[in-house]
Amino acid sequence: MSDPTAFAEKYGPWAVVIGGSEGIGSAFANELAHRGINPVLVARTQSTLDEAADEIRAANPGAEVRTLAVDLSVPDGAEQVIAATDGLEIGTLVYNVGSEPNYGEFIDHDWDMLAGRLQRNFVSKARLVHHFAGLMAPRGKGALVLMGSVAGFGGSPGFALYASSKAFSHTLGEGLWFELAKRGIDVLTPVVGQTNTPTMVKAYGRVEGAAAPADIAREALDEVGNGPIWIEAKVRQVVTDRIYAEPAERARSIGERAARLASGNPVPVS
Ligand SMILES: NC(=O)c1ccc[n+]([C@@H]2O[C@H](COP(=O)([O-])OP(=O)(O)OC[C@H]3O[C@@H](n4cnc5c(N)ncnc54)[C@H](OP(=O)(O)O)[C@@H]3O)[C@@H](O)[C@H]2O)c1
Repeated sequence: MSDPTAFAEKYGPWAVVIGGSEGIGSAFANELAHRGINPVLVARTQSTLDEAADEIRAANPGAEVRTLAVDLSVPDGAEQVIAATDGLEIGTLVYNVGSEPNYGEFIDHDWDMLAGRLQRNFVSKARLVHHFAGLMAPRGKGALVLMGSVAGFGGSPGFALYASSKAFSHTLGEGLWFELAKRGIDVLTPVVGQTNTPTMVKAYGRVEGAAAPADIAREALDEVGNGPIWIEAKVRQVVTDRIYAEPAERARSIGERAARLASGNPVPVS
């Protein structure tokens, strides 16, 4: 939707951005503010939230920006977001958080870490989608953006739970796109490839040719009404190849790429 007033009317006046203090999340929040929607940034660290909020306010005079320090990997995290946003008309939910800085085989990870990821990347996501879509439905408008990844198109040795959580976003998003269309709510799963965000750069270093967060956020929001899925142009061929690959070969080659990323010798993005 190119008309900013129509965009804000359909998807505002407020948006909740989960994982909104940096990377693709703060880029989403900034882009939403640019389009006339007031973002509520949610993340665990108040200082980073404050810095992001100040930057968004400076870049978008007139935007109201709120912050909420909540951990979505604990059982009552989603309930805290629900309580804190009571009374705000939330027209857009961006469930952005989800990257995995801990490369490693599933059984070698500590169970508490994995349980937190299950809560953050599955349960809290489903809970907040259920809550906010339920409030949007009587208004007959709104948007859900569930971040996906090229990783969701195949088993990923070294990132097995992460990849399955991205597949969860894709399949949940596609089903909800159909269910919620008749209630006036748009659902989009942006499928992106490697992006130089603080989480990924800190864990694995910069990847040559990887996308910039601001480009991902802008292009995804341009497509929010054209769900159920938007695939970043650079990874369209990779996604097609993965869908049609023989599964054993797919797991082998994805595992090889993942190991290279983790060893600091990533395959450049072309
Ligand atoms: N970057 C890539 O290469 C890439 C590629 C494909 C797909 N994606 C997808 O894009 C999305 C964003 O990725 P990203 O790399 O920008 O970073 P990310 O690590 O998914 O998100 C970082 C944001 O989430 C917050 N956060 C982390 N854990 C949290 C928790 N338990 N509760 C609440 N907030 C939490 C962080 O702040 P705090 O640490 O202060 O909480 C920060 O604001 C993800 O869904 C990812 O799967 C990324």
